[in-house]
Amino acid sequence: KNIAVLLSGRGSNFKAIYSSIEAGYIADARITTVVSNKAEAPGLQFAKDRGLNSYFVNPSEYGSRTAYDTVIIDILKSRKTDLVCLAGYMKLLSAKFVDTFKNRIMNIHPSLLPSFPGLNAQKQALDYGVKISGCTVHFVDKELDHGPIILQKAVEIKENDTVNDLSERILKEEHKIYPEAVRLFVENRLTLHNRKVNIDYS
Ligand code: GRF
Repeated sequence: KNIAVLLSGRGSNFKAIYSSIEAGYIADARITTVVSNKAEAPGLQFAKDRGLNSYFVNPSEYGSRTAYDTVIIDILKSRKTDLVCLAGYMKLLSAKFVDTFKNRIMNIHPSLLPSFPGLNAQKQALDYGVKISGCTVHFVDKELDHGPIILQKAVEIKENDTVNDLSERILKEEHKIYPEAVRLFVENRLTLHNRKVNIDYS
């Protein structure tokens, strides 16, 4: 399967997926394209250093989200993309993008959805005072941090946790469940029924 990664920053989830492929944990998959909306994203540099096909697509050159996404859609189509992984991609996708890759876009979010969607999910969890948070890999639909849930992992919140402490603890789990979700997809073990994800563990 051909995987495209969209990112905006650090790219640690992208690296986790990349390493899982390199290690053979995800077999029969390759990262064929990396797209960033930020020229300086360290994740983009990582991709370039490894000779991956990588693109900076500059949002300021396009008048609308759809116009911007159309450029990315064309790139991903030309690369015969089977799965799009959002990995810290800080831009909302247009309806056109979501329709084009229907049920073939994944995202990772640092909370147990549907709790705490949107920005600063770890801070939202701390401010609310929940005792458990975590992370979620889900298929992307037209609403933010909303689509069918693929995998989740709970993470304990400790007394006196800072946003950084909690973010680090959650990130460790992100790096496990995102490659795992990609592996399940690549192995054709995910099916959708009534917006619920069924996983084939047989
Ligand atoms: C992660 O916390 C992810 O859950 C969220 O954005 C952050 C991206 O981190 N969507 P990285 O760029 O993968 O290191």
